[in-house]
Amino acid sequence: MLIPQPVSHQPAPGHFALSAATRVSGPPEITTLLRELLGLPLPPGGDITFTLTEGHGPEGYELDVTTDGVAATASTVQGLRWAVQSIAQLAPQVPCGRIVDAPKHAWRGALLDVGRWHHPIGFLHTFADILAAHKLNVFHLHLTEDQGWRFEVKRYPRLTSVGAHRRSSPLGHTNDGLDDGRPHGGFYTQEELRGLVAYAASRGVLVVPEIDLPGHTQAAIAAYPELGNRPEVQHEVMTRFGVSEHVLNAEESTVEFMCHVLDELVDVFGGPYVHLGGDEVPLAEWSARYENPERLLGWWISRLAAHLRTHGRRPIVWDELVGAGVPEDAIIMAWRGPERVGEALAAGHEVIAVPQSHMYLDHGESTAPGEPLSITGPLPLDRVYSYDPGPGVLGVQGNLWSEYLPTPERAQYNLLPRLAAVAEVAWGTAGDAGEFRARLAGLLPRYEAAGWNYRPLD
Ligand code: ACM
Repeated sequence: MLIPQPVSHQPAPGHFALSAATRVSGPPEITTLLRELLGLPLPPGGDITFTLTEGHGPEGYELDVTTDGVAATASTVQGLRWAVQSIAQLAPQVPCGRIVDAPKHAWRGALLDVGRWHHPIGFLHTFADILAAHKLNVFHLHLTEDQGWRFEVKRYPRLTSVGAHRRSSPLGHTNDGLDDGRPHGGFYTQEELRGLVAYAASRGVLVVPEIDLPGHTQAAIAAYPELGNRPEVQHEVMTRFGVSEHVLNAEESTVEFMCHVLDELVDVFGGPYVHLGGDEVPLAEWSARYENPERLLGWWISRLAAHLRTHGRRPIVWDELVGAGVPEDAIIMAWRGPERVGEALAAGHEVIAVPQSHMYLDHGESTAPGEPLSITGPLPLDRVYSYDPGPGVLGVQGNLWSEYLPTPERAQYNLLPRLAAVAEVAWGTAGDAGEFRARLAGLLPRYEAAGWNYRPLD
């Protein structure tokens, strides 16, 4: 059966056998999507019908399956996309009965960090496919880090000609202190990212970009030393993992620089949101230069939030900004612990729950021998599945930081199948963990067929 578990399923005897000859009708983007997902010609006709009708909400859908065919209805194209994903997950033997389904949370996402390692653009398309297969609708793309700047900015070419390349990376865990001595680099052109945005949109996934500042900016400062606090020092793009002490200065010219970056960013990425970061900003450099350094984080983010508003965009920020003087319409991503969710709600913000205790999929799943190197852990599947964000949140997402996930294969191993647990928590239908595991065992062959790497179940 399906993952995420539908809200309601009334089974009936028999099944509809889907084949290359099955005929489909409905909005062209929907019939095209079903053909692409199944890899079948599916000529026009009425065996599977997709129809828009009132009453299903922004993302809900209904499937009525008989031995003769499937009638899918929804009130939006987005709802029909989730109907397509359900049919694709059940094919080729779609069980008869009625499914009435809709997500609890509007924001259901996953973060991919391409700052620590530049992943090929093709993998970003795959990541969007993986999200959509789990009915997750947000791809949070973390584009900038101390260790690499990945977003092409035409006005400031050194951000990528310098900032996208580092001389070396940690060998083993960064705490071991060893260097691999191998240059690593790469970035995405605006053209590539526009292609990704369109591809993800065709699958119902919104790509939300993050430019993380004013910390996590050593790569930008390496490219343009005037952005930093000691312009006479030429920093390099960071070669160790961990948080750099080098942060943006608080000069007008630096704010203006980053506003120009955002101007290009919003031109490439659609949707209402831009993530401005704001996490883990060491105060040492500011303390040496400015009065009230503890106020500068809120000041920085408020300045950029005001600029985003001129573009009609809304800021998302990490939970360090709660109580730091950012506008109430800033959405908080609560990461440092489950208790941060309630704190951010109490401060009047909308909140996306991503506590590292449950939702950090870069953490290893197990500490058993033979498990690949991870940043920390363990975060077992069942703990992810047990997460309850409580009432009132905008949504939930899993975060895949990539310090120790240098390849798409490693990234997928940490992502899957725990992302399925994130998806069911986000959809709002998580229940018994044993029953979930049984359904999950049925999903793994589909990962295999799609060519997605995953960690086998224990
Ligand atoms: C974070 O994990 N630093 C948001």
